Amino acid sequence: MDALDSGQKFSPRQDDDWDQNMEFLPAADSQHLEKKPGQRKAVGLGVGLVLAAAAVALLTGLLVWHYHLRSDVRVRRLYIGSMGIINQRFLPAHEDPSSEEFTKMASLVSQQLKLIYSKNSVLDKYFKGSTVQAFSQGENGGDSVVAYYQSEFDVPVPQQDSLDEAMESLESLAESQRGRQGRVLLRPTDALTVNSVMSRAIDPRMTRSSLLDRETFNIHVSEAGVIQSPGFPDSPYSPNSYLQWRLRADPGHRVVLDFHTLILEDDCEQDFIKIYDSLAPIEQLAMTEQCGYPHGSLSFLSSGNVMLLTLVTSGQKNFPGFRANYSQAPLTEQSCGGKLTADRGSFKSPFFPSNYPPQTSCVWNIEVPKEKFVKVQFKKFLLGNQSKQCLGDYVDVDGQRLCGRRLNNPVITTKSNMMSIKFNSDSSFVDEGFVAEYEAFIPTNPCPGTFQCTNNLCIDKSLQCDGWNDCSDGSDELNCKCEESQMQCKNGHCKPKYWSCDGFDDCGDNTDEENCVICKPGEFSCRNGHCIPQRLECDGRDDCFDGSDESQCDRSVVLQQCSEFTFRCKNRRCISKVNPECDDKQDCEDGSDEEDCQCGMRPYRTARIVGGQASREGEWPWQVSLHVKGTGHVCGASVLSSHWLLTAAHCVQDNGAKKYSQADQWQALLGLHVQGQINEWTVRRNIKRIIAHQDYNPHTYDNDIAVMELDTEVPLNQNIWPICLPSPTHDFPAGQEAWITGWGATREDGMAATVLQKAEVRIINGTVCKSLLGDEITDHMLCAGVLKGGVDACQGDSGGPLSVTGPSGRVFLAGVVSWGDGCGRRNKPGVYTRITKYRGWIKEKSGV
Ligand code: ARG
Repeated sequence: MDALDSGQKFSPRQDDDWDQNMEFLPAADSQHLEKKPGQRKAVGLGVGLVLAAAAVALLTGLLVWHYHLRSDVRVRRLYIGSMGIINQRFLPAHEDPSSEEFTKMASLVSQQLKLIYSKNSVLDKYFKGSTVQAFSQGENGGDSVVAYYQSEFDVPVPQQDSLDEAMESLESLAESQRGRQGRVLLRPTDALTVNSVMSRAIDPRMTRSSLLDRETFNIHVSEAGVIQSPGFPDSPYSPNSYLQWRLRADPGHRVVLDFHTLILEDDCEQDFIKIYDSLAPIEQLAMTEQCGYPHGSLSFLSSGNVMLLTLVTSGQKNFPGFRANYSQAPLTEQSCGGKLTADRGSFKSPFFPSNYPPQTSCVWNIEVPKEKFVKVQFKKFLLGNQSKQCLGDYVDVDGQRLCGRRLNNPVITTKSNMMSIKFNSDSSFVDEGFVAEYEAFIPTNPCPGTFQCTNNLCIDKSLQCDGWNDCSDGSDELNCKCEESQMQCKNGHCKPKYWSCDGFDDCGDNTDEENCVICKPGEFSCRNGHCIPQRLECDGRDDCFDGSDESQCDRSVVLQQCSEFTFRCKNRRCISKVNPECDDKQDCEDGSDEEDCQCGMRPYRTARIVGGQASREGEWPWQVSLHVKGTGHVCGASVLSSHWLLTAAHCVQDNGAKKYSQADQWQALLGLHVQGQINEWTVRRNIKRIIAHQDYNPHTYDNDIAVMELDTEVPLNQNIWPICLPSPTHDFPAGQEAWITGWGATREDGMAATVLQKAEVRIINGTVCKSLLGDEITDHMLCAGVLKGGVDACQGDSGGPLSVTGPSGRVFLAGVVSWGDGCGRRNKPGVYTRITKYRGWIKEKSGV
C-alpha cells in the first residue's frame, strides 16, 4: 500500500510566532535594503534612451551613496539563536505557544537576552527586541530547557560586521562564564541560568519580503509517520512560502528523516529545503540544503532529539515537492567505533549509507598479531564541510587527517600491528560518510601471489601494465615494457595502441594525442581529412565540402549546401549548428528545429544495470517495463509519445513456444519505479501492434529496433514522459556521458533488480569499439560503457534507453540496449542500437 494511504501520523498546526506582516531585511544584500518611498522615481515614458541611461547611472550612484556611505541609514538584521537553560524544568506545555507556561518562560528568556545584550555596547545600542519561537528538552533530560529565539537589531549599514562579531562573541562568553559542573555563575540580575548561547544571522533567502505564506507544523516523531509538501503529489507546492516542520523525538532519541521523493526547482536561490540540527534555522546547525533533483542519500539523522525541516519557495516555477518518512532512533543505537582484532574486516561511518549525524565521533582501534602490519582502504569517502586543514568533518588515521569528497590515495598502511581511526563530524553539513576495509599483512610478503602497488594494495598480476590504473596510485603502470599492441607514452606508461588520437589524454602527459593532426598549424582539420585555413571555420560557407567546418559554431547560419553532418530544416535548407533540435533556441528560419519538443524533460523541471544505483521515482519518466503476461518483466522500452514505445527487435522474437512477436503476449508498465509496486502514477497498457525492423538480423543483432503501439493512449504525468528522438545528424561524440536504466540483472548471471537502476557510462569511439569487440560492430550500433569494467547494462535491460542530456537539459535517446559480451567485463563495452540511423524508420512506422 502506498505510504500516504496508511494514515498520517502528524498533526499540522499553525502557530503565530512568525509575524505575518513583518518585512524582514537580510544582511549584506543591498537589494533588500529598506525601501524609502520616492527614492526610485520612475523615468517617464518618452524620455530619450540617453537621458534614461544617465538617470539610471545617477540613481545607482545615489543609491550606493545612500545605502553604503551614509552612516545614518539603518537596516534591520535578524539573528536566530538558541539558549541552554539549566535551572528550569521542561514541561509538555512548553511546546504550546498559547500556553501560560510558554508565555512565562518566553518572557524570562527575552529578559535574559536583553540583559546579555546590555553588557555589550554594540549590541546594546542597536537591539530592538526578541521573540521566542520554541522550547525543547535539554540534553540532560527534564532538568534543562533549550529556548529558540529571534533577535532583531536596527544597525547602521557600516556597523553590520561589528554586530556579527559581537553576536559571535556571546558564545565564548557563555563558555568562559561556565564554572565547574557546567554551571554559569549566577548574578542577582539574571532571570535564568544559561549555560550556552549560539546565534547567527538568518539565511537572507528566508527573509524575502515576498514570503507571505508562513506556516509551522509541530510533529512528534515517537510514532513514525509521513510529512509532505502541501498538495503533494497531486499539485505543485505553493509559491512564496516559508514552511517549517519542527520534529521532536523522545528524550534520549534522535530524529530520523528519510525522503521518499524530493523534486524542487533546480535553482537553490528560488526554491530549497534546508534541514537543521535544531528547532530554529540557526546557520551553524544547518545539516543540508537541497534543491532540484538530488542524487545523493536523502536520509538524515539529528544529533539530539530535535530537527527542523524548512521549505522556501519563490514566485515562479513550482514543482511536486517532497514526501518524507519520519521516525526516531535511540541515541545508543549504532554506537560506532570499537576494537577490531580479526585479520581483516570492515567498518563504516555511523548509519551509512544514510547521512551521518552531526556532532558525532567514533574511534576504531585495530590490533592484529604482532608480526603483522595493517592496511586500510577507503572504498567510499564522502565527507561534508571540507576545509584546508580538515577542521570540519574528518577521518583521522594514526594522526593523518582525511576530509572532503575524494581521496587522492585511498590506501593507508601502518608499520606496526596497530592502527587507530577516528571519525569526527562537526555541527553542520553532513554527508554520506565512508566505508573502509582493513587487512593485516606480513611485512616481508605483503601480496602473496599478487602484484604489490606502491600504496601496498594488492592487485591481480594480470592487471599490471594493461593500461589501466588499478592501484589508484598508478604504480601498476610504471616501468612497463610495452607489448606489440601497445604504445609507449613519454611518461613510461603503456596504453593500447587504439587509444591514440582518440581525443582523450590516456597517457596522462598527452603523448597519445600528439602527432595526430594531419593538418599544419593554422589549419582546420575537416572530418573528411581535408585541411583548410583556420579562418574559414564558421564563416558560413562549407569550405570542407562535408560541412564539418560549419558544424560547431556558436552562431547558426543557413548553409548553401547540406551534408551528412548538418541539420536539415523542414524547408530543406541546412543550418550550421550541431544538434540544434529542441535546444529551446530557434535556428531554422521556419522554426522546425523546435517543433515537437514535448519531450526529454522531467515534468515539472524546467530548465540492469551492473555497477549502478537505485534511481529516484520520476527520474526516468520515459522508462518502460515490458512484461510478458504470466512471466513478468522481460525487457525495457522508452516512451516516444502517448501511443508509441520503442524497444529492441530481439525482445520481440518468437522463441520456440514463446510467441514474443505477438502483441497480445505483452503488457507495458509505464511510470513504474519498483517492480510489483503500482502507485498513483503507474499505467498498465496492452499492446495493439508490434513492428520490428524488417532487416533485424538475429545472428548479428543488426537493426535491433522495434516500435510498439499501445492499445489506448496514456495520459502523460510526472512519471510518464516521452524522450526526445535525435535527428539523423545529431552528434553524440565519444567521451560524452550517458545514462543507462533498467530492471535487469545487477551482475553477470545475477538477479534482476526490483528498484529501477541507473548507471553512468560514456559513449565509446566506433573504431575503438570495433577493435575491442570485433567486426560484429556495424555502423548501426553505438558502444557505451566504462572500459575498466563494472558498469554496464545486462540481461533484462534490453530495449531500454541510453539517455544523453543535451546542453539545454533535454534528454535524447542515443541508443537502445542491444547486446554485450557478458556484463560489465573489462574492455567489453555494451552495444546499443544507434538511434540516429533509424529516425526515418521510426517516423515511417509510428508517425512520431
Ligand atoms: N541482450 C540482453 C537482454 O536481452 C541485454 C544485453 C546487454 N548487455 C550488455 N552487456 N550491455 O537483456
